[in-house]
Amino acid sequence: MEKGIFITFEGPDGAGKTSVLQDLLPQLEQFGREIVTTREPGGVAIAESIRKVILDPQNIAMDDKTELLLYIAARRQHLKERILPALEKGQLLLVDRFIDSSVAYQGFGRGLNAADIDWLNDFATDGLKPDLTLYFDINVEEGLARIARNKDRDVDRLDMETVDMHERVRQGYLSILEKEVQRMVKIDASQPLEAVVADALAVIKKRFFEE
Ligand code: TYD
Repeated sequence: MEKGIFITFEGPDGAGKTSVLQDLLPQLEQFGREIVTTREPGGVAIAESIRKVILDPQNIAMDDKTELLLYIAARRQHLKERILPALEKGQLLLVDRFIDSSVAYQGFGRGLNAADIDWLNDFATDGLKPDLTLYFDINVEEGLARIARNKDRDVDRLDMETVDMHERVRQGYLSILEKEVQRMVKIDASQPLEAVVADALAVIKKRFFEE
C-alpha cells in the first residue's frame, strides 16, 4: 500500500489556517487520495476532553507546565488513534496544529525550556515528524483584529493572552522556520483567503504530486 502523506497547518491565532484547510479540501480531491482532516488539541474523544480543560476560560489557575503536559497527553492519544492509522491506510492527512504549536506557544510564548519540549514532543510522537508543515504567517495586530471580527468564534483561554505573548509566539514560529527549512514552508496569510488557499495548494502539489 502507498505510504500516507502527513501535512500539518501552523500559525499564530487569527492566521486563518482553519478556513484555508476547509477551502483546500475540495481542491485536493484531484490527487485521488482519501483525505482525512483533524486538529490538535483534540481530534479523538479523549483528546477533545483534554482540550476542554486546556481552553476553558475559567481555568485561569492553570500552571504553564500543566498546560504543556495536557497538550502533550492529548497529542499522544491523537497520534495513536488517528494519525498512525491514517498514515497506515495511505491517506492524505491534514492536521490543524501539531508539535510546532507546543514549541511556539509553550516554549517561546510561555518561556518553558525548549529542550524539555522537544523531548516531550518526541516522547508523545515516538519521533514522528510531518512530511510537510505549512506555516501561515500573519502579524500579531492583524491576527488579533481578525479574531475580534469573527463573532462566531468563542473566546478561549489562549485568545485572552497579552499581545506580548502572541508576539513571542510569532517570533517562535519564525525561528522554527529557520531551522526546519526542508519540512516547513511559509505562506503569507495576510493575503485574501483565495490567494492563501492557492499558495497552499501549489506547495502541496509540487511537493507530493509532481513528477
Ligand atoms: P484553537 O481554537 O484550535 O485555535 P486556532 O483556531 O487558532 O488553531 O485553539 C487551540 C489553541 O491552543 C491555540 O491558541 C494554540 C494553542 N496550542 C498550544 O498552545 N500548544 C499546542 O501544543 C497546541 C496544539 C495548541
